[in-house]
Amino acid sequence: MTQAALHVGLIGLGTVGSRVAERMLTWQAQLSRRAGVELCLRKVLVRDVSKPRTVEVARELLTSEPADLLDDPSIDVVVEVAGGDEPMHSYLHRALSAGKHVVTANKVVMANHGPELLSLAAERNVDVYFEAAVGGGIPLISTFRTDLQANRIERVSAVINGTTNYVLGRMAGQGMPLEYAVHEAQDAGFAEADPTDDIGGFDATYKLAILGSIAYEITVHPRDIYREGIEGIQPVDFRYARELGYAIKLIAHTQRHPGRVEARVHPAMVPLEHPLAQVEGANNAVWVEGDLVGQVLLVGQGAGGKPTASAVVGDLIDLARGIRRGVQARPSFSFDDRIGVIPIGEVVTRAYYRIQVDDRAGVLAAVGQVFAEEGVSISSFIQKDASIQDKTAEIVITTHPTADAHLQKARERIAGLDAVHEVSSFLRVF
Ligand SMILES: NC(=O)c1ccc[n+]([C@@H]2O[C@H](COP(=O)([O-])OP(=O)(O)OC[C@H]3O[C@@H](n4cnc5c(N)ncnc54)[C@H](OP(=O)(O)O)[C@@H]3O)[C@@H](O)[C@H]2O)c1
Repeated sequence: MTQAALHVGLIGLGTVGSRVAERMLTWQAQLSRRAGVELCLRKVLVRDVSKPRTVEVARELLTSEPADLLDDPSIDVVVEVAGGDEPMHSYLHRALSAGKHVVTANKVVMANHGPELLSLAAERNVDVYFEAAVGGGIPLISTFRTDLQANRIERVSAVINGTTNYVLGRMAGQGMPLEYAVHEAQDAGFAEADPTDDIGGFDATYKLAILGSIAYEITVHPRDIYREGIEGIQPVDFRYARELGYAIKLIAHTQRHPGRVEARVHPAMVPLEHPLAQVEGANNAVWVEGDLVGQVLLVGQGAGGKPTASAVVGDLIDLARGIRRGVQARPSFSFDDRIGVIPIGEVVTRAYYRIQVDDRAGVLAAVGQVFAEEGVSISSFIQKDASIQDKTAEIVITTHPTADAHLQKARERIAGLDAVHEVSSFLRVF
């Protein structure tokens, strides 16, 4: 690379890529001044070059041939905003092997292959920037990578999926069933046509894998993270949650323990006064605790073309500055494979159960006995008016902290009691 210019190849010209290209093409002078080198967009790889675009990009910049970008020695940086595991993992591997730097917004690739790509980059004396892969425009990775470097990170808890936060907010506020709230989120542009990745907690799991890996400098693979989506939550759970002083959020949580870490994604009852309970709409928030800094809260728009482009182009400028100074000056990550993730059964947590029972004498004693036999101690109990017609009652129980395996065993055994119709909800309490 000539130090006077940084030549960029962009992969993807969709929601994020269009905004990245737009900022690079219309704000080139300002970005170049901040970077200290001229930032030049040289090539844009897409699937279909004839597709109408929301940004004006010269036809000669567009290609659908990966080699035009990956094998062009004049391109210094590959910016990948296309998404998905393959072929993007292979493309980024190829770019790094050829000595190109990488900026990516791809959480799937970084969660599944981050440590491998970062090691390859270190070998080739180039770098991988991935600020946009977690939390859209919120400066998270750079915060860990620089500002929190003096800390031992103790825990990271986050509302990291905007779609589920929007959906849960509508269910809580309007009493909507999940399917309605999802439709509404789709209409408002906060949910994909197929919302499985978000609603099922997969997206949050990828992000937590990345955050956990960089927070503790260990390899946290998405498959090691306990995952549960929000599919089972019903409007009535929000009413009980409020009564008990909680909000319901999809929480991604990781915490350091001696020799191991906790890493889990699931819906949870969060005390109303906790900052994560107050995250509104499609916003994201990450709450970090370090041994020196104490607690830090980072909040903002976790998705959308513009906030994500802010992170991508910010990375590009940071990279350009780093190259001017010499990339070795930038702190790199090391990943310790010996520290594993604690199985969910061993995680100690509180729980909320909503149970449908026969409205007759002795039922509560039977339920209480199961809890006692599983070593689960009850913290609160609510019983609403019983239905006279079908002689059923709904009871809600919260517990004190207990190993998750015992909470699950109690749930299973209670569901099997004669007088119990079903355990309608089980939620962990944060
Ligand atoms: N959207 C967000 O709010 C957001 C937020 C944070 C992170 N991200 C991440 O940013 C990345 C891009 O997301 P997006 O929403 O911008 O996606 P998108 O709107 O679907 O755009 C994807 C772009 O990549 C191109 N592409 C896909 N596969 C390709 C392939 N095999 N070869 C060449 N080009 C290919 C597509 O080309 P065609 O246009 O020709 O089809 C399209 O231009 C993803 O990793 C996503 O997770 C997105």
